[in-house]
Amino acid sequence: MKRSKITLIGGGQIGGNLALLAAQKELGDIVIYDIPNAEGMIKGKALDISQLCPLDGFDSSITGSSDPEDIKNSDVVIITAGVPRKPGMNREDLLDINIKIITDVANNVKKFAPNAFVIVLSNPIDAIVYSFFKVSGFKKNKVVGMAGVLDSTRFKTFLAMETGYSVQDVNCMVLGGHGDTMVPITRLATIGGIPAEELISKKKLDAIVDRTRFGGGELVKLFGNGSAYYAPAASAIEMAESFIKDKKRVLPCAALCEGEFNIKGFFIGVPAVIGCNGVEKILDFKLLDNEQKQLNLTLDAVKETVRETKL
Ligand code: LAC
Repeated sequence: MKRSKITLIGGGQIGGNLALLAAQKELGDIVIYDIPNAEGMIKGKALDISQLCPLDGFDSSITGSSDPEDIKNSDVVIITAGVPRKPGMNREDLLDINIKIITDVANNVKKFAPNAFVIVLSNPIDAIVYSFFKVSGFKKNKVVGMAGVLDSTRFKTFLAMETGYSVQDVNCMVLGGHGDTMVPITRLATIGGIPAEELISKKKLDAIVDRTRFGGGELVKLFGNGSAYYAPAASAIEMAESFIKDKKRVLPCAALCEGEFNIKGFFIGVPAVIGCNGVEKILDFKLLDNEQKQLNLTLDAVKETVRETKL
């Protein structure tokens, strides 16, 4: 089987971790792409990770480049290009600067990797993935935003911390936009198949939901200069792996809705099946009235940000 080519656009903290994880999982050959100013840094990261491969016997080639031609014929493109939040900022505050960056990126990806499956991480994700889709003209199944997987793994972490039970047995889903209005679906959170609502008091569960909603901000505050990178990278790799291996995982991610959950024409976190055709399906299911109401609220927030893109 031919190795996949994975291009990481943006060689910052998430980009470096994406390269490491993709190499460790032997997902394919990796190109870390960034602007010429960052060339030394990305070439250094690529070489450093290459030198780790013999230790564990991973066969991946990892290169760094600032030449857009080097993204040619990528099977997967993961975009983290853009600036991260600083303490006190909302993800939405990044729109103006990141929209310019994503426009350039979309034009390059369209030119050099027109068949790639594209995963967008740059914030505000729901509006940036929409912008990529509009500028690139890619089919909707080939463009997706990473957020639900990250928000759900945060929810899982806090549920496991609260109970002391294995993270392996925690399951849950966060839908909606990747912002403070995201919708952790408490009703569907389970631990060993048992509803979390039966095992954790309402008060504690509400606090966990809140901590999940502001999970990214908690890290921005702790870091003081930048946002999370380990879990965001691992979340995007889970999506890329499902595509490369045609696993058909059901993962919450920002996919283009065309009527699902009564949402039309916007990317927002919904349960999606990811396989060799990209986003193969959105699993539309009946939400309770209060859940649908919360989803409508988060949609309003996403719509407002998308409106500002003027695309
Ligand atoms: C976060 C960033 C990636 O939530 O949005 O940490």
